[in-house]
Amino acid sequence: MAIWSNKFHQAMNTSAYDFNQSIQVDARLLDADLRGSIGHAKMLGNQEVLTPSEADQLCQTLQVMREEYATGKLVIDYSCEDIHSFIEEELTKRLGAIGKKIHTGRSRNDQVATAMKIYAKDAAQSLQEGLKKAVLTFCDQAEVYKETIMPGYTHLQRAQPITYGHYLMAYVEMFRRDYGRLGDVIKRIDQTLPLGAGALATTTFPLDRFQTAEFLGFESPSLNSLDAVADRDYSLEFLSALAVMAMHLSRYAEETILWASQEFHFVHIEDTFSTGSSIMPQKKNADIHELMRGKTGRVYGDLMAVLTLMKGLPLTYNKDLQEEKERLFDAIDTMTMMVSLLPEMLKATQPDTEAMYKAAGKGFLNATDCADYLTAKGIPFREAYQTTGDLLQYCQSHQKTLETLTLEEYQQFDPHFDEGIYQAIDLKTCVYKRQVLGGPAPQCVADHIQRVRAFFLDDKKVN
Ligand code: ARG
Repeated sequence: MAIWSNKFHQAMNTSAYDFNQSIQVDARLLDADLRGSIGHAKMLGNQEVLTPSEADQLCQTLQVMREEYATGKLVIDYSCEDIHSFIEEELTKRLGAIGKKIHTGRSRNDQVATAMKIYAKDAAQSLQEGLKKAVLTFCDQAEVYKETIMPGYTHLQRAQPITYGHYLMAYVEMFRRDYGRLGDVIKRIDQTLPLGAGALATTTFPLDRFQTAEFLGFESPSLNSLDAVADRDYSLEFLSALAVMAMHLSRYAEETILWASQEFHFVHIEDTFSTGSSIMPQKKNADIHELMRGKTGRVYGDLMAVLTLMKGLPLTYNKDLQEEKERLFDAIDTMTMMVSLLPEMLKATQPDTEAMYKAAGKGFLNATDCADYLTAKGIPFREAYQTTGDLLQYCQSHQKTLETLTLEEYQQFDPHFDEGIYQAIDLKTCVYKRQVLGGPAPQCVADHIQRVRAFFLDDKKVN
């Protein structure tokens, strides 16, 4: 029987009841709801809406239920309409009439909004932990490979030499922004507590919502009851942060798939993170990376579903909002899985340093350095650029590279060339001389790694 059944409402059609219930999805809100309920009961006691003994008994029993849930002892009755109904039923079973008092001055509308915020905050924090682990693993690998030269690309065309370490640190920056975005989500969640807004218009009981906010760790109660029960912005912000994070993971996955192909051969994915083919015995497929790329679409779908769900909803609560939970949970679960895979996935990806170096040697990646060499001798850059273009054309038609041109050949194009050109266009020089902050020079990458480690390993830092 639903907690709301009374003589005024006839029994529901059973299929309609099944369609309406959500306990399979929202059972995971159990602990968050118990915490919210404890805050509510405590405040009701302080405000003398309940007697101190009633409030104490409620709080104690709710706490016992938390402990039983944590140790797997609490048996959830899945015939209840939702987890909020189950909690009230269970309290009533344990405390009789006192259990029925928990719902004084609240509605499931403010209750569910509160439980979702508490749950979402925990989830965002544990995703941050996962990202931190991934970032530190990327830093460790970047340190190992900070001198490993490889081609850097624009337009998927070889452009300038970089290092594998420099490349890995690009993802560290993406993950750091993801970490920060989750921090923003947490900050927004913390700003306002919906509890006390009631169904939509608060209550006639003298609630002290500031007290409840303080008990539950929120900065302030929400200031408009209609908005409080209708608002799902925090969920949209969370989903947006997850969608961007998924996009980053997908780019990493895509690049690794590409690089593991015979065509590039830059990395080798160990067997622990690849699969075989049922027909082609020689195949090693990057299924895990492909799934990471594929699941990104699913997370985008979750975001789009909730945006679409919200766009036409009249104030205040509408049952459509029940659907929001499943989408947010799906995105959280998907991203939790993906982020936790990252560290081992990276460790199972071995760069082929020789292949990378060889590729960096083809395609005139040091052409900019040749132009820069002339520019440093006082030639205006645009002229140096043209001269280098002429040199490249000459190299191409004579099957030469900038390294194999003789000094006489160089000087035919510009008399400023001297022996120093060979040093200037050496791939190692190209990388080591790019010492501008954020650049590929090993010392810059080392500095970057150090800053990131300090950020994540210094306890005093703020998100
Ligand atoms: N299961 C509902 C949900 O998740 C709880 C709120 C029900 N409120 C109502 N007015 N029917 O949204």
